[in-house]
Amino acid sequence: MSHKVTLIPGDGIGPEVTQATVRILEATGVKFEWESFAVGADAFEKHGEYIPKEVIESIERTHVALKGPVTTPVGGGFSSINVALRQKFELYANFRPIRNLPHIPTRYPDVDLIIVRENTESLYSGLEHEVVPGVVESLKIITEKASTRIAKFAFEYARKNQRKKIHAIHKANIMKLSDGLFLRCCRTVAKGFPEITYGEHIVDNTCMQLVMNPYQYDMLVMENLYGDILSDLCAAFVGGLGFVPSANLGDHCAIFEAVHGSAPDIAGKNLANPTALLRSSLLMLRHLNEFDASTQIRNALERVYRHPKKLTKDIGGQAGTSEFADAVIEEMDKAKAAPAAAH
Ligand code: NAI
Repeated sequence: MSHKVTLIPGDGIGPEVTQATVRILEATGVKFEWESFAVGADAFEKHGEYIPKEVIESIERTHVALKGPVTTPVGGGFSSINVALRQKFELYANFRPIRNLPHIPTRYPDVDLIIVRENTESLYSGLEHEVVPGVVESLKIITEKASTRIAKFAFEYARKNQRKKIHAIHKANIMKLSDGLFLRCCRTVAKGFPEITYGEHIVDNTCMQLVMNPYQYDMLVMENLYGDILSDLCAAFVGGLGFVPSANLGDHCAIFEAVHGSAPDIAGKNLANPTALLRSSLLMLRHLNEFDASTQIRNALERVYRHPKKLTKDIGGQAGTSEFADAVIEEMDKAKAAPAAAH
């Protein structure tokens, strides 16, 4: 069987990290039919649209996309392609697992945390206006529907993956109505999952608790803005944004992408580290029920990370993007040749 996947290489380092990732994915033996498209400034030049309708139609058909970073112009031009795609396909859950890789020096070893961020509302609804000159109002929208949906997503994931604990993160002491509604929805959903310990922490305290002892948490679920901030904070536990994967999931479609940007300063130089997109593609493989292939790559990646010279220069190695991909594929081939030794 082959999987149809929409491929959005993006720009800057996007095409390099995407090509490395695709090569590694194909080396697992899983078959893919890639439907590849440009978006952003490149697409505008060719088609007069930042997100050509072919891209939308392709995702509607494949239901799955793997996306590289896209440059967003500052202070003008078009708005974020990522936000537009999330809205278009109602990708309401942003899912970010936080796990260490060997050889990346961090303050905390063996972190294993999952952040589930509501992706569609809160202060990201874009409802801002100037009431009178000098006074601006920005509306935070919280609905029962979206809060219940994200809480269910988190609890169902926890049940399916034997996670033990979920904390809802909030500021209901101040935003009594909006965050109060979010918490009420989480509590209602939690009742259906008695095997999972449910807790609630205020967002500012959570920041301090995380930095003091990240091991006290297992899964965190929260509204959009708190998720935006805490997911970057937690990325620092494992070395930064260059190492964390991300999935944007809806009921019908899913987009898997790295959270770093298009790094124009190193684009086209074979310097980019493809780890974040590769780890995002492991989430994609699991979404496609290709669990063996995901484990194959994860094990190979961890083995490559034990050899500092095989890593890319941003983390002190000597390899280029393509040599790094070669090293992962070589480790996969070795494991296939000696399966008993690999596990
Ligand atoms: P950036 O993440 O592109 O770069 C920050 C620094 O990290 C740079 O020094 C860069 O060389 C380095 N870096 C980033 N990814 C790397 C990788 N994979 N390997 C090695 N080094 C890496 O952030 P910046 O400069 O703020 O944004 C550049 C552009 O990317 C902007 O137009 C921004 O809007 C866009 N962007 C796109 C995102 C997406 O499409 N998902 C996410 C974030 C930013």
